Amino acid sequence: MNRKTKTVLRGTGSCLPSRIVANDEFVRTIDTSDEWIRTRTGIHERRFASPGETSATLAIAAARKALSKAKLDPHEIDLIICATITPDMMSPANACTIQAALGCRQIPAFDISAACTGFIYAMSIGDQFIRSGTAKNVLIVGTEVLSRAMDFTDRNTCILFGDGAGAAVLSASDQETSGIQYISLYSDGVNQNLIQAPARVIKQAAPGEATVEHVRIHGREVFRFAVYRMVELIQEATLMVERLGLKIDLMVPHQVNRRIIDSALSSTGFPVEKVMINLDRYGNTSAASVPIALDGAIREGRAKPGDTVLLVAFGGGLTWGSAIVTL
Ligand SMILES: CC(C)(COP(=O)(O)OP(=O)(O)OC[C@H]1O[C@@H](n2cnc3c(N)ncnc32)[C@H](O)[C@@H]1OP(=O)(O)O)[C@@H](O)C(=O)NCCC(=O)NCCS
Repeated sequence: MNRKTKTVLRGTGSCLPSRIVANDEFVRTIDTSDEWIRTRTGIHERRFASPGETSATLAIAAARKALSKAKLDPHEIDLIICATITPDMMSPANACTIQAALGCRQIPAFDISAACTGFIYAMSIGDQFIRSGTAKNVLIVGTEVLSRAMDFTDRNTCILFGDGAGAAVLSASDQETSGIQYISLYSDGVNQNLIQAPARVIKQAAPGEATVEHVRIHGREVFRFAVYRMVELIQEATLMVERLGLKIDLMVPHQVNRRIIDSALSSTGFPVEKVMINLDRYGNTSAASVPIALDGAIREGRAKPGDTVLLVAFGGGLTWGSAIVTL
């Protein structure tokens, strides 16, 4: 491994469906209210894909924007990794559909499944391809159309999620200050029943076992897991940035529930002014949540070149992880 090679974040992009679904739309079909959803989650509205949109089409649009920001042509990309739990098909992978649509060379392209932590898993894999010298430019995407996996009669879940895609181009660089400083990844399959999304090829249910046909969560338990892990990840990252002689300029957390973020901030003392929050507009977009928020932070000038950004995610698997990146 070339120890001098570092992985820098060269460009980001995102794509949200144009269809806005306000909280009030749910009132017609389930026993809920705009007030309950706003106060218990912080979500005001989310985007749902239109019939012609899929997780691949949203990903392609986000990827084009990231490539344009990175000032790279598609043929310069050496690897595509797509994080999603709502791919168009089990085969081909969304990543192959993206490769064809962008007109990339016959490079490796594959999907990964790590739910809401997927983008950070993809970033870690891309980073390792780059630091080993196997790839120079890697396109990573997080994309979801969870609206297609919802039970719209279940008020506990259907109000929480939205659709969208976020992408980033990672590139090899020999400069020392910017780039990926640290990534940590975790999983705990023992508690997998807390968040479940259906497979396209449904697993054979055991006698008496219910088949998972829609996204299903144990909200209160997930809430506790999310706060606990978010606190742990912030504390771990705080120690790490001290060791690296850096400071965190902005945290971009996975966007699930405003109360989860607030609880983690009050436990760690991390200042709210340094946190990117867009869940009021987009809800929880799973693997797309962190890259959409990161791209938004960069476009809104909240994360500038030279800033160190902490990405934090947690979700189905269970999985969780973080990345410290200097822009
Ligand atoms: C789901 C979540 C918003 C529920 O909020 P909460 O404050 O924990 O609410 P509770 O689960 O304690 O439920 C309180 C009551 O609100 C009700 N409720 C749930 N959803 C509701 C809705 N959309 N509208 C109105 N009432 C609702 C519940 O049925 C419950 O009623 P009950 O006391 O009569 O049983 C919250 O737990 C959460 O955000 N969890 C994590 C979400 C998640 O799993 N995301 C995916 C993985 S990252």
